[in-house]
Amino acid sequence: MTPLVDFVRTTPFFVVAHRGASGDAPENTLAAIRTAVDGGANMVEIDLQLTLDRKLVVFHDHVLGRTTNGHGKIAATSFHDVRKLDAGSWFASSFAGERVPTFAEVVDVVRNRAYVLVELKPFDAQATVDDVRAVVTTVQEFGLGPYMAFASFDHRTIAFVKHLDQTLHTVALNVPGDLRQPSEVCAAVGADAYGCSIHELSRDRMADARRNRIPVGVYTVNDEASLRRACTYGVQAVVSNFPTVIRDAALRICQQ
Ligand code: G3P
Ligand code: CA
Repeated sequence: MTPLVDFVRTTPFFVVAHRGASGDAPENTLAAIRTAVDGGANMVEIDLQLTLDRKLVVFHDHVLGRTTNGHGKIAATSFHDVRKLDAGSWFASSFAGERVPTFAEVVDVVRNRAYVLVELKPFDAQATVDDVRAVVTTVQEFGLGPYMAFASFDHRTIAFVKHLDQTLHTVALNVPGDLRQPSEVCAAVGADAYGCSIHELSRDRMADARRNRIPVGVYTVNDEASLRRACTYGVQAVVSNFPTVIRDAALRICQQ
């Protein structure tokens, strides 16, 4: 597979599966990741968290209750106990028995088929440095660096990733309400790309990004109206819960 940096340089537009194909299968499960990859998503976005015993798992919320039959904080629960939970039934009974996957399991599914966008949620204040170090070390051990990017709303995390390994790609997610231009946000933390909500797109922001050659991606694009808006502004990547539908629509809407 071409390294991500070359893919981004040569691909005018691509689709990122949000928490896997999370409109079609329970978010951040292997079912959602496989659906995304099988459906041709160029990149799969996942959220990473650490369990109490510091196992890296793919999970969005800080608490277990919304997307599993468990409760309490994931950071206060052992991997053994997280693994017993059903992460699929909340979405549909046909997904009963889906588990919270490990980072390694997700990488096994995605490797050589799609790029990975790893979102790092702001970790617990005391643990940040060690947690980010653990994630970066794991990515290096997996040999995943050239085929993935880190994204975060927590810009200290982005800066720290770059501090640990200058070769890793990073995306600064704009904190809603931050009115700075993409070039200012990226320069402040050494990020390679800029992400924001589709509602935050503006002519000024896109002109700034173009002038400074900063790739821009937006979340979350789940319908044709949003896709049209993203394409009109000229964003390079859209993050979608329905990556296959949006990719097919983009062929009609965006590449005319
Ligand atoms: O990639 C950005 C997007 O995933 C951020 O929002 O809540 O889905 O993690 P959220
Ligand atoms: Ca995310």
